[in-house]
Amino acid sequence: MSLTKNMLGLTTALLCAFSLNVSAEQIEIKFSHVVAENTPKGQMALKFKALVEERLAGQVVVKVFPNSQLFGDNKVLEAMQLGDVQLAAPSLSKFKKYTKKLQVFDLPFIFNDMAAVERFQQGEQGQKLLNSIKRKGLQGLGYLHNGMKQLSSSSEMATPADLKGKKFRIMSSDVLAAQFHAVDAVPVKKPFSEVFTLLQTKAIDGQENTWSNIYSKKFFEVQEHITESNHGVLDYLVVTSRDFWYSIPKDIRKDVKTALDEAIAYGNEIASQKSKVDKQRIVESKRATIKELSDEERQQWVEAMKPVWKRFEKQIGKKVIDAAIAAN
Ligand code: SIN
Repeated sequence: MSLTKNMLGLTTALLCAFSLNVSAEQIEIKFSHVVAENTPKGQMALKFKALVEERLAGQVVVKVFPNSQLFGDNKVLEAMQLGDVQLAAPSLSKFKKYTKKLQVFDLPFIFNDMAAVERFQQGEQGQKLLNSIKRKGLQGLGYLHNGMKQLSSSSEMATPADLKGKKFRIMSSDVLAAQFHAVDAVPVKKPFSEVFTLLQTKAIDGQENTWSNIYSKKFFEVQEHITESNHGVLDYLVVTSRDFWYSIPKDIRKDVKTALDEAIAYGNEIASQKSKVDKQRIVESKRATIKELSDEERQQWVEAMKPVWKRFEKQIGKKVIDAAIAAN
C-alpha cells in the first residue's frame, strides 16, 4: 500500500518535472511598443505574432503589449538590456543613449520621400547602422516605416517665423531639439504617452508626427492646425538584445527572423496606405485645418532648418550623411 503511494508520488513528481521542462523550453518573446494597434507598428507586431505562432507552435510564443502598457519610450531599451522584454521597435529618434549615428534619420529635410528612406536603409550604410548599437548589447534586426512627419499646432504655421516662442513636444533627440531651436521654437522632450494630454491642456503648443500617429492618438482633435511639411521621417528600428537573440537555437532563430522580415514588409505596406488614408480621415473630420506648403514656403523651412546638419556631422559621420543625401 505504502509502496503504491510512494510510486504514485514519484510518478506525479516526474510528470510535474516533465511539464515544467517542456514549458521552460518554450521561448517567450515579449514585444513592447507605445503606439495603438491600428498603426503600422501595431499591425506589424500582431502579424509577427500570428506568423511565429503558426509556424513555431509550441516552440515560441509572442506576447504583444501596445500603447506603452508594458514599457514607455524611456524605459524599453533599458528593460531589454535587463532581459525583461525581448523585442521592441522604438522610433529611430530614441536611440541617443546607444549610438549617435542613427541621428542621421532626424536631420530635417535630408530625405525627399519614403522611397529615399527605403533606399538608404537597404543600402550599405543603412545596413551597417543595424549594428551600431552592438556595443550596448543590442541588435537591430530591421527597419520599419511609419512615414514623413507633419507639424501640428494650436496656431497657423505657414512660415518658420510662426513657430517663434511656441512650445513643441519632441522625442528624446538632440537633433530634433536643434531643429526647433533653429526656428526659435521651444522644444520639450516628452514621452509619446503624454503628448495628447499635454496638447489638450495646452501645456504645449504643438508637436511633430506622422499622419497615422496624429490620427490614431487623436492629436488632430486637440490641434486646430496641421502643416503638411514632410520635414522629417519617423521610422523604427526593430531591436532585440544580443544575449536573447543568440540564445535562440539557430534553426528557430532563422524562422523567427523570416517571420519578422515578412511582418516588416506587411507593416511597411500598411504604413504606405495609412499615410494617405489617415490624412484623409483627418481632412474629413474637419477638426483641423491642413496647410499645404507652396514651393517658396517650403524653401523657407528648408533654409531655416538645414544648418542643423553641419552641427551633427561629426557625431553621425560624413559618409553616413552623404549616403543619405545620395539616396534621394
Ligand atoms: C512611435 O511612433 O513609436 C512614437 C513616436 C513619438 O514618440 O512621437
